[in-house]
Amino acid sequence: MSIIVKHLSFVYNPNTPFAKKALNDINLVIEDGDFFGIIGHTGSGKSTLVQHFNALIKPSRGNVRVDGMDPAEKGADLRELRSNVGMVFQYPEYQLFAETVFDDVAFGFRNYYKRSKKELKRDPDRFKAETEERVREAITMVGLDYEKIKDKSPFDLSGGQKRRVAIAGVIVMRPKILVLDEPTAGLDPRGKAEILRLLHELKKNYCPTIVMISHNMNEIASNCNKIAVISEGKIICVRSPQELFSDDELIREKGIEVPEAVRLFKLLRQKGISFDRLPFNAEEAAGLLFERLKEEGKYA
Ligand SMILES: Nc1ncnc2c1ncn2[C@@H]1O[C@H](COP(=O)(O)OP(=O)(O)OP(=O)(O)O)[C@@H](O)[C@H]1O
Ligand SMILES: [Mg+2]
Repeated sequence: MSIIVKHLSFVYNPNTPFAKKALNDINLVIEDGDFFGIIGHTGSGKSTLVQHFNALIKPSRGNVRVDGMDPAEKGADLRELRSNVGMVFQYPEYQLFAETVFDDVAFGFRNYYKRSKKELKRDPDRFKAETEERVREAITMVGLDYEKIKDKSPFDLSGGQKRRVAIAGVIVMRPKILVLDEPTAGLDPRGKAEILRLLHELKKNYCPTIVMISHNMNEIASNCNKIAVISEGKIICVRSPQELFSDDELIREKGIEVPEAVRLFKLLRQKGISFDRLPFNAEEAAGLLFERLKEEGKYA
């Protein structure tokens, strides 16, 4: 399932003294199977852009097509769209509200089916069984123990667990595209690593396309196959991590932070030691250095 954005512009509070152009003629293609990163300074329009992907907001100009469907067109099935495109907002755990983890995770699914499948309404036992199956599956998918956690209050969980429960509440719809706005913000390094591992698991087994907004260049470079740079409501470029972080001029011009491992290798280059690839994390850096030492016969 792909997302194609054409000439998208968006203005908050149009025709008022508070009008604010947040997106300006955005063109973008997110393909099936991408782990697509979106970066840009605060206020550049990242969240505004992704909220178009499941029609939470609609374009002022241009259009967004998800799997060929334009949600702004008359008769578009928004419910179908929202079950296909799962949206995990920033700090999603703030939106947990139910008395039990089960009810929280079930919320979206119950809502969707209550309104759409009359036959399930007529057959409440089947609806109950199906809800349970979905909730069990979603909670297990995010790496939590269904039996242990389902009856707990979401408010008694750790920060990392709460975030997983919130993600399960989106996964329960079995989305084909998962969009996450700063999914690791506010977590400690272990919590961040766990969420990223979870995203790869979900991508492999569940929703093949992931879109992730992040300010953390280490995680963007290590996890995404494509990165869109957005600045003042415009797409500056869409590149692979190697292409993006090799472009010193762009990095300087746009004030893009680089991953730590890239910084290290650029410092080595200044000292005359250059490599034809950049590493994006400590493991890759160690691998490249090891290879070089071996080539030079300094290591057997
Ligand atoms: N509800 C709103 N009403 C008016 N202006 C808004 C609203 N939401 C965002 N904006 C403005 O639109 C622009 C883009 O905001 P957006 O939240 O999309 O940026 P962002 O890249 O997600 O930033 P951050 O990294 O801080 O989350 C900003 O100038 C912001 O002030
Ligand atoms: Mg934002």
